[in-house]
Amino acid sequence: MRFFVDTADLDEIREAQSLGVLDGVTTNPSLMAKVGVEGKDNIFRHYKAICDIVSGDVSAEVLATDFENIIREGEELAEIDDKIVVKVPMIKDGVKALRYFSDKGIKTNCTLIFSPGQALLAAKAGATYVSPFIGRVDDISNDGLALIHEIVDIYSNYLYTTEVLAASIRHPMHIIECAKIGADVATCPLKVITSLLNHPLTDRGLEQFLADGKKLNL
Ligand code: E4P
Repeated sequence: MRFFVDTADLDEIREAQSLGVLDGVTTNPSLMAKVGVEGKDNIFRHYKAICDIVSGDVSAEVLATDFENIIREGEELAEIDDKIVVKVPMIKDGVKALRYFSDKGIKTNCTLIFSPGQALLAAKAGATYVSPFIGRVDDISNDGLALIHEIVDIYSNYLYTTEVLAASIRHPMHIIECAKIGADVATCPLKVITSLLNHPLTDRGLEQFLADGKKLNL
């Protein structure tokens, strides 16, 4: 399973990269707004700075909702760096744009996926990734992990190459369950990735080893 960090914060991305387990980054307009980047030039520079930190794919989302402008924005974003993946919303013109970008060899991430039917459409249109939002499905008392399961099953039935990028991950068990289901990628806030480190028996065991280690007079 690949790990992407779900943030636009450069310090967090550097920290995730320094762990040695990072495979890419996802951003969205809300995450970009959170770090306070404004204006096209600054935003493009920010995406470039992210690409310079990581070695894998970096999702950058279009704001347009009509075909012509999705294409224009997406082509501009793709020019920033080879690592850029154009993130396109699951709407009719978005699906048309996925096909266009796919035919041109531009990588895409179809976002705001909440049903297996949407994921099927995105795969048929040639999306590189689909982003089903686990946490937001859970928030409305449905089963976000069941959605991941359904999409993974459908893609495997027909050998679609579109990768399942599990998004809106809120806690470590989301990651573990996605790994058991076979999602290709999990995109998570840094604190959820680092929470995988935690186990009380590790803490207790280390404390004991360090206490006994002192007796060795090294
Ligand atoms: C990432 O690609 C998604 O935009 C993100 O995971 C959404 O997460 P949220 O539901 O916590 O905002």
